[in-house]
Amino acid sequence: MKGLLSAADLNAHEIESILDVAEEMHTIQQRPVKKLPALRGRTIVNLFFEDSTRTRTSFEIAGKWLSADTINVSAKGSSVSKGESMRDTMMTLDSMGVDAFVIRHSSSGAVAQAASWVKAQCINAGDGQHEHPTQALLDAFAMRQHFRTLGEGGSFAGKRIAIVGDLLHSRVVRSNVLLQRTLGGKVTLVAPPTLLPMGVDTWGCEVSSDFDAVLDEADIVMMLRVQRERMSGGFFPTAREYAASYGLTEERFARLSPTVGICHPGPMNRGVEISSAAADAINSLVLDQVSAGVAVRMSVLYHLLGGADEEGQL
Ligand code: NCD
Repeated sequence: MKGLLSAADLNAHEIESILDVAEEMHTIQQRPVKKLPALRGRTIVNLFFEDSTRTRTSFEIAGKWLSADTINVSAKGSSVSKGESMRDTMMTLDSMGVDAFVIRHSSSGAVAQAASWVKAQCINAGDGQHEHPTQALLDAFAMRQHFRTLGEGGSFAGKRIAIVGDLLHSRVVRSNVLLQRTLGGKVTLVAPPTLLPMGVDTWGCEVSSDFDAVLDEADIVMMLRVQRERMSGGFFPTAREYAASYGLTEERFARLSPTVGICHPGPMNRGVEISSAAADAINSLVLDQVSAGVAVRMSVLYHLLGGADEEGQL
């Protein structure tokens, strides 16, 4: 395997190895001096054609803590804004001897396409509505930690994960469904019918439009952002009505057992898909997810660039 394009590329052994090494990386994150020599001499370019706060920063921190040289290139401020094609930009940077690209793009499939143009390894940091594999891995890391804290061990087998919100526009849901297919978690998807992706019935998950019914059964509730920037029409009447039916409101949060882990990949729209009561709750894993993001990305970079063999096999 070259790079990481899809959560479906990983088998159970590879996922476990990434999560286990991430745990070691997580301990480094707590140290005053956070530096390992593992990727010294390696060069990673973060190529972001779309906005990002946590994904880009955490990839940059991850590379730096492993002693790689990390460079950020965003579409604004590069020759892309002068009309250069993505292919020419990629091939230009590849010719400089880059070892890995971390790529975010607004078009589904763009990262796989980019990977076919370059020698360097490519990591998908979010392509359109398609996939975001490192997000699913960091979600798994944070959920596993939560289960362990409850004394339930680290297995996902039979765990009920409700993923709620704008599923139509979400790459996070697709990668989570694929990863949990391998890990054994039972995913239930909850969304208004207008925000369900086509063909969702073939994903192997339960699908519901009744959040209240699903809420009482869940071990994890993962709320997704309403992605207004990807919406061309009206997918629901008003934000208030959306929140009333599909938001983790204060009322719904009050019904939840404190053992239920609350996840959100961020950025959050407080008052729309999630209330502050839920986002800031003791059982909210939102900041654990952010912290896991650095450890998991360190682990992925280590597996691809510093790991088993020259080909970057996981
Ligand atoms: C997500 C993304 O960009 O796909 N955020 C993230 O990476 N943490 C989800 C979103 O934008 O809502």
